[in-house]
Amino acid sequence: MRDVLPAERFQARLVAPSILSADFARLGEEVDRVLDAGVSLIHVDVMDGHFVPNITVGPVVLRWLAPRIHARGAAVDVHLMIQEPDRYLEAFAEAGADALSVHAEVCPHLYRTLAAIKELGCAAGVALDPATDPTTVAEALKYVDYLLVMTVEPGFGGQEFIPETLDKVSRLRGMLPSRAALEVDGGVGRETIRALRDRGANWFVAGSAIFGSDDPTGEARILQELADS
Ligand code: DX5
Ligand code: ZN
Repeated sequence: MRDVLPAERFQARLVAPSILSADFARLGEEVDRVLDAGVSLIHVDVMDGHFVPNITVGPVVLRWLAPRIHARGAAVDVHLMIQEPDRYLEAFAEAGADALSVHAEVCPHLYRTLAAIKELGCAAGVALDPATDPTTVAEALKYVDYLLVMTVEPGFGGQEFIPETLDKVSRLRGMLPSRAALEVDGGVGRETIRALRDRGANWFVAGSAIFGSDDPTGEARILQELADS
């Protein structure tokens, strides 16, 4: 595992700002603003226009962003919302990803995919859509470093949190090895973060709550305090 992601970070409560809602014309400065809050995980959403309707960024952008994040001791968490993610794992690892998650819905051979991510030196994660049955990944959970539970439909920032996912988070925490992180993504903000923490989530992706606020540094700090309170 890369040194910016030691084992204790998988057990810690971490707010992970998602750059999806940042100003892409000044991405480096936007990332600096949340790093100033002391965050240690930056979430990068990769979308291909096939698995999800939206299109975002790829390894070319990450290659410039990752060194800036690593220089501050933080890790890059790449959420692949793409078809055939196996084809791109190496490119993202080389571009500076420290953690790579793939969607179970597009990965028929998860053992092989998770092994490939680990061989590239990255933490291996599986992501689940809100409607995906947790039992479909039960066998793969012993090989994951983290599990990402979508609490909105993937594809866009700023959507409303789906309350039914709370029970799913509890259920998955019970299925997941205690060394692995449980990441939640979508609609995370002041109103939802503690309920998610109480259900066993410990990595909290927040896009619009942070970058849509007037003060991303302050908002990231507030969310971290709420997660810890
Ligand atoms: C959505 C992405 C999220 C997104 C969350 O498909 O996976 O990471 O940035 O956005 P908010 O926090 O605004 O719901
Ligand atoms: Zn995401």
